[in-house]
Order: sequence, then C-alpha cells, then structure tokens
Amino acid sequence: MSSKPTESESRLLTQEYEVLHEVARVLHSSQGMKSMLENVLLVLTGFDELKVERKAGIFLADPDKKVLNLYCTLGEFTSVFLENEQVIPYGDCLCGRVAESGELLMSESCFSDARHERRYEGMQAHGHYIVPLKTREKLLGVMFLYTNTNPSWYKHSQEVLLSIGGLVADAIEHSLVEEELTRYRNELEERVVERNIDLKQVNTTLQKEVVERTNAENELKNIREQLRNLSNHLQNIREEEKTRIAREVHDELGQSLTALKMDLVCLKDELPEQRAELAERVQSMSGLIDSTITSVQRISSELRPQILDVMGLCEAIAWQAKEYQKRTNLQFDLNCEHIPLNKELTTDLFRIFQEALTNVVRHAEADRVRVGFLQKGNRLTMEIEDNGKGMPLEKIDHSQSLGLIGIRERILFLDGDVEFLSKPGEGTKVVVNIPLEP
Ligand SMILES: Nc1ncnc2c1ncn2[C@@H]1O[C@H](COP(=O)(O)OP(=O)(O)O)[C@@H](O)[C@H]1O
Ligand SMILES: [Mg+2]
Repeated sequence: MSSKPTESESRLLTQEYEVLHEVARVLHSSQGMKSMLENVLLVLTGFDELKVERKAGIFLADPDKKVLNLYCTLGEFTSVFLENEQVIPYGDCLCGRVAESGELLMSESCFSDARHERRYEGMQAHGHYIVPLKTREKLLGVMFLYTNTNPSWYKHSQEVLLSIGGLVADAIEHSLVEEELTRYRNELEERVVERNIDLKQVNTTLQKEVVERTNAENELKNIREQLRNLSNHLQNIREEEKTRIAREVHDELGQSLTALKMDLVCLKDELPEQRAELAERVQSMSGLIDSTITSVQRISSELRPQILDVMGLCEAIAWQAKEYQKRTNLQFDLNCEHIPLNKELTTDLFRIFQEALTNVVRHAEADRVRVGFLQKGNRLTMEIEDNGKGMPLEKIDHSQSLGLIGIRERILFLDGDVEFLSKPGEGTKVVVNIPLEP
C-alpha cells in the first residue's frame, strides 16, 4: 500500500518531471548535436536536488579503439585539464570505469576515492555522477556531472539519471546516423557532379568524333562521285574516239581500197593476152585487196558496229551473236524487242552485253546462251544467261573484277540495278533493269 506522498516528495516529483520534460524537449529540438548536448548539460545542472555544480561534460565512445573522446563540456575547466582529458582509455579513472562496466557511478570526493586516478594542480574537492549513455545495451558515451563533495543520493536519483542517459544515447545515435547519412549524401552528390562532368566531356568528344566522321564520309562520297563522273567521262570519250576511228577506217580506208580494186579491174582488162603471168599477179592483188577490205570492215565493226547507230540495239545484239556463233560453237537463243533508245543508253547496254558475252566465252565453258531484251512497263530488262560452270560467289564483289565493276558503274549512272545470279555447275545469269523516262 503506497502512502500519500509528503509535500517535499511531491515537489521532488514535480522537479523530476520538469527535468525529464526539458531534456526531452532539448533532444527533440533541431539544433546540431553539440549544442543539443551542451543544452542537456545545462538543464541537468539546474536540477537542484542532485546538488550538481555548473561543471559537466560528455565523452563519446570509440569501441574499436576502446577509448572515450571528450566531445563537449559545460563550465570552467583549466586548459591543462582539457588537454589531458581529450582521450580516456576504457577502465581508466572514473569515466573509463563506467565505459567498461556500463553502470552508473557515484563518487563522494575526488580526493578520497581511489578510483579517481587523474588529479590536477589546483583541483577543487568535488563529487561525481558518471552516467553511462547506453541505448539497447550499446554504449555510445559517458556523461560526467560535478557535484559538491556530498552528492545527493536520494530515492530516484539513479533511475532518473539512467533514464536521461538512455534518452541522450538515443539522440546521439540518431545524430550520428544522420551525420553519416548527410556525409554519404554529400559524397554521392559530389560523385554525381564528377560523373556529370565526365559524361559531358565524353559527350563532347563523341560529338566531335561524329562531326569528324560525317565530314570524312562526305568527303569520301564526294571523291567517289568525282571518280564515277571521271570514269563516265572517260568512257564517253573512248566511245566517241572509237566511233570516229571506226568511221574513218571504214569510210576512208574502205573507199580507197574499193577505188584501188576498180583500178585493178581496168588494168587487168588492158593487159596484153600474152602476158598471162601479169594477169595472175593482178588476180592475186585483187584477192589481197578483198581480204583487206574484209579486215577493215571487221576492225571497224569491232570498234563500233555501224548497225548499232543505224538499226538499233536489238539488231546489233543479233549481229554480235552471229559473229560469235561463227567463231565459237556457242548456240544463241535470242528474245529481243526493237526498242527505240537514245545513243548513250544504246551504247551502254550494248557494251554491257558485250562484256557479259566476253565473260561467257572466256570463263563459262558454256555451249548455250540465252539473251533477253524486253520492255516491261516503263523499264527495260536485259538478261544474259549461260549454261556454263557458274561464277564463283567471291568474284561478284571482288576488287579485281574490273569487268563486273564496269557493268555496275554504267548501270549506276543509268539509275538502274544489276544482279549476278549463279550457282556452281548451273551457269550464270546477268540481269539488268533500267528505268525508262516516262
Ligand atoms: N559467265 C561467267 N561464268 C563463269 N565465271 C564468270 C562469268 N563471268 C564472270 N566470271 C568470273 O568472274 C570473274 C570476274 O569477271 P570480270 O570482272 O569480267 O573480269 P575478267 O573477265 O577480266 O576476269 C572472272 O574472272 C570469272 O572468274
Ligand atoms: Mg570480263
């Protein structure tokens, strides 16, 4: 049965309540850890019943090194004291003992207590409360409060001090975690800033590289186009040259030879009959002139067949096929339409046809060739297909396949496309498609 508290007991209870309330308020205020703890010390030194003097301090524990580090003090301490009390090993003097035991310690007087090992010149007689700052059995520090030489040891003093120690320890742990978090956050922010700078640099370098590469690509494109134009130009010059030489050879040489032949016929008529050996000479000269005329015609046609300009591509293809048939044992299967085309296109298609045909004769070992030349809608299709051994795939894009490259270049200029289709042993098919202007 608890009896009704006396008036002095009530006063004490009120004071305890007030101190605890004040400590809790200070610990919940949003100041930094140091001023928060200094204010706690200030509240406690105002608690009359403990007979505390205005001198107190807090150590923080370093469990790895097993030492206490002086964190803050309240009241007047000599500089010698402050210097020497910065670090206290666990077990040393009063505070070190509390760090080791985790128990509250009260000392009547620094002079009579043998545990008070550290003494200083001019030290005044005083007593102590040494309070462990523990939260969930973990020691975070030690709080010391100076008292007069006779500290109060009233009924609740230990409980109150231990409760306050627990509250302070919680607050310290909270602050330390927060400090750590802030440190991490700052570190992270710094890293993000560094990373951003790095990324920006990488980005700048990349952009520069992209610009350089684009420039190089454009330059390459230009050069390729120039080369293509040059090749086309040379091709045209060559064609004109061939046409001119073919005409001159055909017309001038041909006419002179024909005139010569006619003269020879007259000469033969006028020879006396008894000069039979002269008549024979004239006969053989006439034969020589005939075969020379044939040669001149052949050379002229090989340079540029007149039929191409006079009759058109379809007829030129037929003529060329017949020429090949005479010289090789190739059989031709022609399916060509007569399509009126301009001179350039006629020339290009004829030269492509000739190159494809030369390849058949040279490489294919074929005995049949099918040639198609047709108009389908507004495009032209030309196909040259042999039944030979087939074209090795790697030759199609080989840099040394100059004949095939020439075909491709001509087609490219005409906005068309060409395909080389081939399987080993199954022959080769060259398919050309050219769009016709509407
Ligand atoms: N109709 C074909 N049949 C088999 N192989 C072919 C045929 N056409 C081309 N080729 C192959 O492709 C190569 C490249 O042809 P081309 O560029 O015209 O060069 P070239 O005729 O001067 O060798 C030829 O060397 C040959 O091996
Ligand atoms: Mg060739």
